[in-house]
Amino acid sequence: MSLTEVELPLVRGDLPERVAEFLAEADRRVDAYVQANAERFNGFVASDYVTVYHALRAIEQRQLAAGSAFCEWGCGFGVVASLAAMLDFNACGIEVVGELVDGARQLAEDFDLPVEFVHGSFVPRCEVARAEQASSENSQDHFWLVTDADDAYDRLGAEQEDFDLIFAYPWPGEEVVIEELFDANAARGALLLTYDQFDVVHLYRKTS
Ligand SMILES: C[S@@+](CC[C@H](N)C(=O)[O-])C[C@H]1O[C@@H](n2cnc3c(N)ncnc32)[C@H](O)[C@@H]1O
Repeated sequence: MSLTEVELPLVRGDLPERVAEFLAEADRRVDAYVQANAERFNGFVASDYVTVYHALRAIEQRQLAAGSAFCEWGCGFGVVASLAAMLDFNACGIEVVGELVDGARQLAEDFDLPVEFVHGSFVPRCEVARAEQASSENSQDHFWLVTDADDAYDRLGAEQEDFDLIFAYPWPGEEVVIEELFDANAARGALLLTYDQFDVVHLYRKTS
């Protein structure tokens, strides 16, 4: 792999009022969705949005990204893509569960945020075999990465290599396949930001 980890010290200051208001409403909608779907696990688990916001803000303030094109892989309610839009990234999100795409669109629209959400898979057609292999080798109880859905890039009118910064929240056991998928198709210099269950973020740059 040609990924290099980039140090990203987070300064956890107060949230801007607009961001705090947005996150309060996002938390309300996410909680309602999770409660209503408690019996029907579909792979959606929310990251810690305050931590991810501080990470995005650090990337923006340090001008670490080569450009402003941002994509959230497996965006759920699209909260991270919407936070990226608040930081002036040109943001989109890809999600395989239709009702989550609807929820993401509604939330962004209610806060006047210019984010595009697309229904489909972030795994490009040419990488499905790699994703399936990882899924068959994963020994964890849950595997959220859906491998049998059509990819969303045609609908988005963009390819993975067009993005300067991609965010994903892989489940335990899926970190490596997410890094491999990124490495295989991202542009040189592009960044991958990941969140893990222990409230930690990692930032990687594709260096060659
Ligand atoms: C762990 S959740 C993270 C949600 C969101 N990014 C966040 O941080 O709150 C992973 C999401 O990825 C979606 N997903 C899984 N495989 C996918 C795929 N191949 N393409 C698009 N979305 C996918 C799931 O439906 C789920 O909503």
